[in-house]
Parts: sequence; structure tokens; C-alpha cells
Amino acid sequence: MKILLPEHEIKAGVARLASEVKAHYGRRPLTIIGVLTGSIVLVADLIRLLEMPLRVGVVQARSYRGTATLPGDLAVNADLLPPIADREVLLIDDIFDTGQTLQALLAQFRLLSPRSLRSAVLLRKLGRQRVDENPDHVVFEIPNEFVVGYGLDYQDAFRNLPHVASLEAHELAEGLVS
Ligand code: IMP
Ligand code: MG
Repeated sequence: MKILLPEHEIKAGVARLASEVKAHYGRRPLTIIGVLTGSIVLVADLIRLLEMPLRVGVVQARSYRGTATLPGDLAVNADLLPPIADREVLLIDDIFDTGQTLQALLAQFRLLSPRSLRSAVLLRKLGRQRVDENPDHVVFEIPNEFVVGYGLDYQDAFRNLPHVASLEAHELAEGLVS
């Protein structure tokens, strides 16, 4: 594994994101919705840097299955989603890859009539995007490599790494021994 973003760079990046969020919303109440499972680390770090009245909720979206690193069908579970009608909502995901996950979630959320709806991601992979929509906040642009850590997984492993690292082709091909 090759470290792409060390812990201190991520910390500085999350502080930048917090400043952008504060600049946009001021002291207005905000509802942050994290996309499970990859966003949990970012959400946990970000919310502790914010001071406006804050609600936090989650929605589950799964597009990567099993050993595959190619996007599959998107499964959304909104059972845990708090009310967002008439609220200012910031949707947070770990990575913007093809963009299909975020685009689908934003479309579903719009049907619930939030007062405002924006999105933020930790990472955007260059050259992979297949949708017109872009996140309002991107903390880091990264090359087209498969990455893990700081919430991102490979076969449900490595979410706990404090840095972001890229897996090489042979590591992906070999899979994991659990
Ligand atoms: P998208 O719908 O193609 O934008 O994919 C977004 C989802 O795919 C993210 O929420 C991640 O769960 C997953 N994903 C995309 N690229 C990577 C990666 O490099 N490492 C781990 N997960 C990834
Ligand atoms: Mg994910």
C-alpha cells in the first residue's frame, strides 16, 4: 500500500472543509447526512469543528459489492434518514468516483423538499465521473487509483486507517485473506 494522504494532510483538509461550511451556513441550523459506511470518519471529525445548531443523520448506499471494484447497482436504504423537509441539508460521502451514488441520493433527497441541499466529499477521483452533477465541496482530488482508509474500505477492511492509501493492482487481484 502506498500512502496518498497522510493523517496530518487529511486533518488540515477537514479543517478547510469546516471553514467552507461555516462560511456558507453561518449560524443557521444544519442537518448533516452521512452516507454509510464510508463517510463515518469524515462526519465524526467534521461535526466536531462546527458550531451551528446541528442534526446528524445517515443514509445507506452501497454500490460496490464483494471483491469488485467496479460500480454495480446502487442499493439505497433510507430507513434511518431523519426528516429533511424544510431543513438545510449537507450530504456527505467519502468519495466521488463515477458520481452515480451522490447523484441518485441528491435526486431522492430533492423529492423530500429540503430548504437547501448541498454535498461534500473527502475525495474526487479524476477521470471517472459519469454524471453532470458535482459535489459543492471537494476536500482532495486524487488520481484514478483504488484507495482505502479514513472510512474507505476494500472488502470491508481498512476503514480504520488514519491515512488514505492506494492499493496496487496485484493487491486487489490477490484479494484479502481474512
Ligand atoms: P460512485 O457512485 O461511483 O461515485 O461511487 C461512490 C462509492 O463507491 C463511494 O461511496 C465508495 O463507497 C465507493 N468507492 C469508489 N471508489 C472507491 C475507492 O477507491 N475505494 C473505496 N471505495 C470506493
Ligand atoms: Mg461508500
